[in-house]
Amino acid sequence: MHEFRYKRNYLYCEDLKVIDLVKKFGSPLYVYSYKTILDHYLKLKSAFKEIDPIICYSVKANSNLAILKLLVKEGAGLDIVSGGELFRAIKVGCPAERIVYASVGKTDKEIEEAIKRRILFFNVESLSELENINRISQILNRITNVAIRINPDVEPKTHKFITTGKITNKFGIDFESAYKILNMHKRFAYLNICGLHIHIGSQITETTPYIYAISKMVKFIQKLKKEAINLKYLNIGGGLGIIYDKEKPQTAKEFADKILPLLKRTGLKIIMEPGRFIVGNAGILVTKVLYIKSTLKKKFIIVDSGMNDLIRPALYDAYHKILPLHITDSKLSKVDIVGPICESADFFAKDRVMPEVKEADFLAIMGTGAYGFSMSSNYNSRPRPAEVLVKKNRVYLIREREKYNDLIDKEIVPGFLKRWRR
Ligand code: LLP
Repeated sequence: MHEFRYKRNYLYCEDLKVIDLVKKFGSPLYVYSYKTILDHYLKLKSAFKEIDPIICYSVKANSNLAILKLLVKEGAGLDIVSGGELFRAIKVGCPAERIVYASVGKTDKEIEEAIKRRILFFNVESLSELENINRISQILNRITNVAIRINPDVEPKTHKFITTGKITNKFGIDFESAYKILNMHKRFAYLNICGLHIHIGSQITETTPYIYAISKMVKFIQKLKKEAINLKYLNIGGGLGIIYDKEKPQTAKEFADKILPLLKRTGLKIIMEPGRFIVGNAGILVTKVLYIKSTLKKKFIIVDSGMNDLIRPALYDAYHKILPLHITDSKLSKVDIVGPICESADFFAKDRVMPEVKEADFLAIMGTGAYGFSMSSNYNSRPRPAEVLVKKNRVYLIREREKYNDLIDKEIVPGFLKRWRR
């Protein structure tokens, strides 16, 4: 469910015509719906209200400060993976006791900053990292909370690039090694090992992989309890899938109904780290048709946005619905929708049957609220698009369009190159 709908052949975001937003803010443009973000957060919260989990929104999905602030104000915590994301979390005033920090490669500086801020806990991914956090905590004379990230070795049935809980993935620690670590906790005098973490992948549309992974965790937690190793938290990660095309993902309620009995058996405080589920369908990328080019084999719609703005199709062959902002023609044609970048991977759709569009029309690339802007770059020296947030009949600019100067702001031409020499 989302708040992008056609009314009298025009696409609206909440109560505003999207075409009016592009006229005001230019193209390409990311447009987000406040209500969609909020509804998704509240759906998850209410589905799990029985156990009142800490819902730590995964900042990487969309890290715009306005979106983080919206969620933090509603009571969400944040799941971070870098010093930069910690900086954002602090900027929006997220209480430290609602911040969890994952990543297989945390630097000493990042660890130190997070310890000083007294975040809820680190999700630790290796024995070396555990030793390092212990060492840094000792220097800072602090006891640091950590959860061990378990790699439960399950198949989440999603794209191979976003599978994270199989034993061949770089993430987490296998059960046996984790068991050994938990039994040598005395070796880590400056750590409080207070929880376990899993995150098995992203865009998971079935509940079965979760049931399988969480069941393994329940067994493990029970074994630990018998040996008087008592933990406080179980972090079940994120990964809930959304509808891009014809997927039929589990709803929050269906998901909760299936996994709540398992979670309750742990007796632990549950943490969740949803990203895509909250923001994925809450955003679109609007782009203008620059040229239409028919070749011997294909018809190309060339738009003013590229893989630098949205890399998911190029990187994962991801499917995004593409809709005209104004439907004028009911005729259909088969087209490739491509960007201006000098790479053949710069496409948004291939052999897509679409209503006919003309040059200067606008298109909406749907479902781009998650891993859209947050994965964007300046490749081909292209300034990034602006981002706006719509709430009912009002629109707020939440990130300015980048300017050419932003592209070169940090670059330095050494003096010797500036001196004139023939
Ligand atoms: N927790 C951890 C530890 C994660 O690594 C991730 C995502 C999440 C939570 C949030 O997952 P979500 O609920 O959003 O599925 N760029 C890819 C997705 C990469 C996900 C990385 N980790 C894409 O565009 O599909």
